[in-house]
Amino acid sequence: MRLTTLVENKASHPGLCAEHGLSVLVQNGTECLLFDTGQTDCLIHNLEVLGVDPAGIDRVVLSHGHYDHAGGLPSLCAFSQPVVYAHPEIFRRRYAAKGQLRYIGIKNRSFYEQQGVRFVLSDQPTEVIADVHTTGYETMATPFEIVDKGFVYETDNGYEKDNVPDDQSLVMNTPRGLFVLFGCAHRGIINIIRQSEHRFGKKVFGFMGGTHLGAAEEDQVRLTIDALKTMDLEIVAPLHCTGTAATARLAEEFGDRFISLNGGSAIEVG
Ligand SMILES: [Fe+2]
Ligand SMILES: [Fe+2]
Repeated sequence: MRLTTLVENKASHPGLCAEHGLSVLVQNGTECLLFDTGQTDCLIHNLEVLGVDPAGIDRVVLSHGHYDHAGGLPSLCAFSQPVVYAHPEIFRRRYAAKGQLRYIGIKNRSFYEQQGVRFVLSDQPTEVIADVHTTGYETMATPFEIVDKGFVYETDNGYEKDNVPDDQSLVMNTPRGLFVLFGCAHRGIINIIRQSEHRFGKKVFGFMGGTHLGAAEEDQVRLTIDALKTMDLEIVAPLHCTGTAATARLAEEFGDRFISLNGGSAIEVG
């Protein structure tokens, strides 16, 4: 199974565009899916640079309803009418409430449907291509992991705290064990890893993706790294909202098990 980072906050190859966002191509044999779409048409530009035909992408998983993960979907629709797998709460009208309210949600359902998207919305784990599953809804079970305090969403009665219940990751079920791909991991990476191990009855041997440790408090970062050290991880590949400081700490802790990825880089995971 091959995972190629198409859009990320940084890019490693000449000619690729970088932006605050995430998009990863997951290929298993002849099947593929796109996990998130970045923020803009950077996705299409990078697909072309990397020689991947966007018309061949007919399955998309959206990790959650934030602009930096779903913003590239309209540009993909010019080439393909994909089936999009997501959680039913993905269309919340959501804002960052750090100072002035800033809209960070996605467009409404009908906007995408008019461009040919067909949504499959579920809070249950779903196998999208062979051995690649969405996690479904994640309960908040780890005492030290909390959802970013700076998020709200609009309801009929005003604004409420947004705990991003739609946040989902992908689990690759390989002979080597489970490999987890996070979008932003707003529900906590330890939570997500432990629940995946419980669901599949197998150990997680590695992860890749946004961990949201960049916005987490020091206690959460420290306790998360402590918990990761108790797991027999072979691949630690943080991206996107992990931020420079937490990425550096993970690199220091995990040594040669840490993999530095960004736009244009690919790994094989079993
Ligand atoms: Fe993000
Ligand atoms: Fe996010």
